[in-house]
Amino acid sequence: MEKMLMLRKLSRTYRSNSTRINALRGINLDVDSGDFVAVMGPSGCGKSTMLNLIAGLDTPTDGEIYLAEKRIDKLNETERAIIRRRHIGVVFQAFNLIGNLSVADNVELPALIAGFTAKQARERRKNLLEQLGIAGKAVDVPSKLSGGEQQRVAIARALVNTPQVLLADEPTGNLDTESSHEVMNLLGQYNAEGQTIVIVTHNHVVASCASRIIHMRDGLVANETRVDVKGDHKSVLSRLISLEV
Ligand SMILES: Nc1ncnc2c1ncn2[C@@H]1O[C@H](COP(=O)(O)OP(=O)(O)OP(=O)(O)O)[C@@H](O)[C@H]1O
Ligand SMILES: [Mg+2]
Repeated sequence: MEKMLMLRKLSRTYRSNSTRINALRGINLDVDSGDFVAVMGPSGCGKSTMLNLIAGLDTPTDGEIYLAEKRIDKLNETERAIIRRRHIGVVFQAFNLIGNLSVADNVELPALIAGFTAKQARERRKNLLEQLGIAGKAVDVPSKLSGGEQQRVAIARALVNTPQVLLADEPTGNLDTESSHEVMNLLGQYNAEGQTIVIVTHNHVVASCASRIIHMRDGLVANETRVDVKGDHKSVLSRLISLEV
């Protein structure tokens, strides 16, 4: 099994004025190709910090990050931007779509930036919007869509360059229960087709859709729950709730 992602003794210390915040304290994590990992843990334990470091949106204070066995934490800004565009898809809680571009353009833009032709970008966008059930919204601007629909656009945008890893920070944080289920079902389908996914969530039901649940505390992995029985959400949920920190 190819290791898609490896974190080795990854640390991030923030310094503001005279205070130091050790957001990550030497975290180790291995993610195999095809894994669906949910990261849980109390507010401030370092979940977003970890995701931002993997995405290359921030630089570690110490430690190593490997994507498909290639070290990526020492790359320069340009090289990191290329990795981020081509090999990592990111979805945020707040969708972060471009408000004055159509849904179609929001999804095609990263493909064009990554070097696909206009025709290829259009094909990719069409396929994704179709799969995600929002093909009818292609010409609309994001503000005309519901939260769940906007998040599906964000997922399409994150997947348009067929990334090695899809990262999502609280992707259902702004959604109602039904839209959350839809989004998680869609992510589950992409995972079933082999997409490696790492999501951060506070929600046990959302986490129970993953195959591995990493519990973080104080900038480290505290423990892990493996979801062996697919579909047995009840027992997974009760295990998760009993682990609640
Ligand atoms: N840019 C920053 N400058 C200074 N401190 C920061 C910065 N970003 C995060 N922190 C601090 O680092 C710690 C970890 O933050 P992080 O955002 O990773 O937590 P989190 O687990 O994602 O929390 P939440 O569940 O609330 O989103 C917190 O103490 C936070 O205040
Ligand atoms: Mg966070």
